[in-house]
Amino acid sequence: MIYPIQIIGCPVLRKIAPDITPDYPNLPQLIADLYETLEVTEGVGLAAPQVGVSVRVFVIDASPFADEDPSMANFRRTFINAHIEERMGDKEYFNEGCLSIPGIHEDVLREPKIRMRYVDEQFQPHVEEFEGIAARIIQHEYDHLDGMLFTDRVSPLRKQLLKSKLNAIQKGRFKANYRYKMAR
Ligand code: NI
Repeated sequence: MIYPIQIIGCPVLRKIAPDITPDYPNLPQLIADLYETLEVTEGVGLAAPQVGVSVRVFVIDASPFADEDPSMANFRRTFINAHIEERMGDKEYFNEGCLSIPGIHEDVLREPKIRMRYVDEQFQPHVEEFEGIAARIIQHEYDHLDGMLFTDRVSPLRKQLLKSKLNAIQKGRFKANYRYKMAR
């Protein structure tokens, strides 16, 4: 099933998503639906809160970045109950966008390397380090689990300049070539 994308202003995007247990109902279906939705929206990552499901699950398909980094060609990963344990290195800028904030792109500062604890689809625990584009996408999706959006992370000046644009989006003044859901 392809979910509609929750747009900035929807309360679920500001909630802290809880961990789930192995008996969480229909988890394989949720994960399959996240990948299907990611594919049609042509995104590189999608977090469950973005489809209105407040749980600590996100999926990434970084293959569009294969030109820049060949190791991303097969980077298709599911992260459940993710918790970043450490962020390492000097912060770097990277231009980000988000399906939940259509039409907006901003340079965002983030650390280039992280260590993250998570469980996979079989609920096997992992602690893994990521860097480069993977670390970038993971940190963006991870923020969604903590009720944060990339526009929260821009400079105070950029934030001021963005204000009216974000308000316009919340009033429905945007274009998106995928199904979406606005706050009531
Ligand atoms: Ni996003």
